[in-house]
Amino acid sequence: MNDFKSIEFVDDKLIILDQTKLPLEEEYIVTDNLERIAQSIERLEIRGAPAIGITAAYGLSLYLKNKNENIQEEFDFAFNRLAETRPTAVNLFWALHLMKTTFEESIDKTNLYEILLKRAKEIHQDDIDKCEGMAQNGLKIFEKKSRVLTHCNTGILATGGNGTALAVIKRAFENGLVSHVHADETRPLLQGSRLTAFELEKAGIPFSINTDSSAAYLMQHDKVDLVITGADRIAKNGDAANKIGTYNLAVLCNYHNIPFYIAAPTSTIDKECADGGKIKIEQRNKKEITHINNHAITKEKYDVSSPAFDVTPNKLITAIITEESIHYPPYDF
Ligand code: MRU
Repeated sequence: MNDFKSIEFVDDKLIILDQTKLPLEEEYIVTDNLERIAQSIERLEIRGAPAIGITAAYGLSLYLKNKNENIQEEFDFAFNRLAETRPTAVNLFWALHLMKTTFEESIDKTNLYEILLKRAKEIHQDDIDKCEGMAQNGLKIFEKKSRVLTHCNTGILATGGNGTALAVIKRAFENGLVSHVHADETRPLLQGSRLTAFELEKAGIPFSINTDSSAAYLMQHDKVDLVITGADRIAKNGDAANKIGTYNLAVLCNYHNIPFYIAAPTSTIDKECADGGKIKIEQRNKKEITHINNHAITKEKYDVSSPAFDVTPNKLITAIITEESIHYPPYDF
């Protein structure tokens, strides 16, 4: 039973399920404030490529509510603030640019806020539909009842709908095609052990959490039939940026002859980006590595490297599932 949503828009307020507190506490952020919305993206209170884009679209609309002067400057201010929150997920920029087009077409209208809000709601609904399309198309990759390994969180929490990779897994489970899910814990922010586990529990799917470094062990001991992850930005040639550690999995799959799939909506495909080398990789705050829940686990003075994403080369990806179809190599989006 899905009794939770990552984002809801109610009575001119955005309601965000605070993902930094899950799964131990289910708390909501209720706001119409642009800065608070931008911070919620930066702090990963809301995260996941499609969910970030939807949040930004609502945030932009809300900022323009009751603004009657210097509309262009106000729009640019909000657009730029939201665009600087996270650099890698292209869905953020995709959604912001759709909003910009609507804004430019309607700048002189007296009901500008209503028009922008309608557009944001359409972007939200479109993602719900895309999730459904991926789940349905993804069924075709299952040749037998499978043990699936996944990374990060790609479900309801990461999208406006049922998810990308996790929606495929859930639909396959409902069809008797998944027996067990291995959830990579996903260091450093533990999207797997906190968020994917939360969603799998809610969906009643048998699962176990493993440290990221155990994935090779699980594959070596024949515990994994296939791997499926999401993506934050897919280049024209199919190279795909996703949560740090995804590339490790793709290399391991290649060695162990295990299929490695990506599920992502077409809004994650950046046709302007020729290959993965051109994708900007977000670097996170070192404290996310040296601390867990504000508790130091090593000396703060130590130097840290913390890329939030890595890029999996197209040749390691068995297929990319979108809401349109299943794409096989050679990729040319
Ligand atoms: O840093 P996050 O938690 O926003 O990273 C999210 C991921 O890497 C997901 O796999 C990706 O956004 C696809 S989810 C639909």
